[in-house]
Amino acid sequence: MLLTPGPTALPPSVREVMSEELINPDVDPAFADRYDALLDKLGTVFDTDDEMVVMGGEGILGLEAAIASTVGPGDHVLCLSNGPYGDGFADFVESYGGESTLVDADYDDSLPLADLERTLAAGDFDLATMVHCETPTGALNDLSPALALFDDHDVVTVVDAVSSLGGASVPTDRIDICLGASQKCFSAPPGLAVASVSDAAWDRIEEREPESLYTNLLPWHDAEQPYPYTHLTTLVVALDEALDLLLAEGLDAVYDRHREVAAVCRERGSELGLDPYPDPERSSPTVTAFSVPGRATELQERLRETHDVTLSTGFGDLADDVLRVGHMGYNADVDRVGQAMDALEAEL
Ligand SMILES: Cc1ncc(COP(=O)(O)O)c(C=O)c1O
Repeated sequence: MLLTPGPTALPPSVREVMSEELINPDVDPAFADRYDALLDKLGTVFDTDDEMVVMGGEGILGLEAAIASTVGPGDHVLCLSNGPYGDGFADFVESYGGESTLVDADYDDSLPLADLERTLAAGDFDLATMVHCETPTGALNDLSPALALFDDHDVVTVVDAVSSLGGASVPTDRIDICLGASQKCFSAPPGLAVASVSDAAWDRIEEREPESLYTNLLPWHDAEQPYPYTHLTTLVVALDEALDLLLAEGLDAVYDRHREVAAVCRERGSELGLDPYPDPERSSPTVTAFSVPGRATELQERLRETHDVTLSTGFGDLADDVLRVGHMGYNADVDRVGQAMDALEAEL
């Protein structure tokens, strides 16, 4: 049982469509029609009218493309962070010649809003980055106060919502570039990076004329057909099927299911004496990181070998201190999470 916070296990019908006969994405109009429909479905799930882009590559490609397309030498970027992915945006910014200002908090704290206000008052920023769900720590950040501040200061915003989109409501319409990935709450295979891009973001990208090639978003906007390169057809049909499942259930029902399963997971954890790593009020409905100082790797191995249950540990400084249960997408299921917690109970 694969219960990592992405990739998730795949619903049976998603596995089935991947064995359909391959069609040529550049020649067969059936693919173009299916792709158009996919973009509409993504707009519904992202809850935005902004243009959608589906790039062939994993989540990191989307993060890098967002920065490569909007940042160049001399640009000032504020990176708001309380986790590894928030910190990582500063590295992308610097690698494309931008100047990053990291406004950060400890990984088990909320976003540092007072510092943010002070930093915005003291400087001039072209762009801001932040993360909705910090998968490695299991925290879901409330983005509203920060988005309001960035709006007041006319700052273009880039948000990594890779592990919340499709599992929790994301305020996409207040975000200029919102980033997702196929293998998280959509429960499609890894390999597609999805993004919504606002008109303000396209204006900035068009003005800048990015120099990068594969990470440049502009060809996706300019292309006569909505994909400039041979698309990853098998992954596209898989994502299309995964979105059909999500929309048939209804987004509100999907979000309720994630909240319910997260509560069950944490309650089982608390019966075992395990605390969620961040404050429970800030824990994400899509993933739970339990604090197990110094034992995560051993527990992970024993769960896999003895019970055939695959969970994740933390990474970086948290590598052996947190054990993570992914309850996103197809895995946001009381029975599946219950089985994983039974195995954890037996091992503990
Ligand atoms: C919050 C977040 N952003 C970005 C990524 C990168 O996605 P990928 O592993 O598909 O490159 C991940 C992956 O776990 C993630 O959790």
